[in-house]
Amino acid sequence: MRRHIIAANWKMNKTLANVREFLIKFVKWKNNTEMQVDIIICPPSIYLMEASTLLYNTDVKLSAQNIYFENAGAFTGEISAPMLKSIGCYYSIIGHSERRAYFHETDADVNKKLKALLENGMNAILCLGETLHQRENGETKNVVQAQLSADLYGIESRFFDNIIIAYEPIWAIGTGKTATPEDAEDVQKFIRQWIANKYNQTVANNLRILYGGSINHNNIAELISQPDIDGGLIGGASLDKNSFIKIVEIANRIIGGK
Ligand code: 13P
Repeated sequence: MRRHIIAANWKMNKTLANVREFLIKFVKWKNNTEMQVDIIICPPSIYLMEASTLLYNTDVKLSAQNIYFENAGAFTGEISAPMLKSIGCYYSIIGHSERRAYFHETDADVNKKLKALLENGMNAILCLGETLHQRENGETKNVVQAQLSADLYGIESRFFDNIIIAYEPIWAIGTGKTATPEDAEDVQKFIRQWIANKYNQTVANNLRILYGGSINHNNIAELISQPDIDGGLIGGASLDKNSFIKIVEIANRIIGGK
């Protein structure tokens, strides 16, 4: 039985005061709620240290939005896996489409970042997904398959306890256009099948595959009711604490009643 995840990707948003206010209120709410899902918060790296302190002794997981693949050295401006670990942050998003598009990250970079996380005993939220052009040309599954193959190159099955995959169709990110639950399920089922073929059925059955792209409190229920959608990676609708709490509440109710 896979435990669902609701993850907040704050991208490049919030001030320190906003972060404090959100996390203090969220933890208070969460402590009075029976949680049926796992929560991961991904703040900008400058706030990870503060967030780590505020989330200390809670079961809310903390994640970076990106890492560099070397452990240390002359890489001005970058942050490594061991640095994150040293502040109590054991997760990072890698391969987000915004990093691929604006910062020219390749699948080879994503693969090195994945290896850096896994070799340091950390967890990855590996993002992938197709552009609108690719979807309209019927290339979605080919694109996703190519990303899976390149991003997971050389990764052994024993590491899969530390990998979460997030399917994020680029045309659905920040656009208000959510993939229909059926479309998202179709691709996510394909991803699980690909993993089953490449590794084995147990790895595939245990792998948590999230959907991301314009999730909000109106569409979360239908999305996570799909058999291969094990939660959501949420951008815009995770910024406001009330909006995020509402999404978690709905997820708790749906998953609790499953
Ligand atoms: P939105 O929820 O704002 O569409 O962002 C999704 C996303 O990119 C999460 O990583």
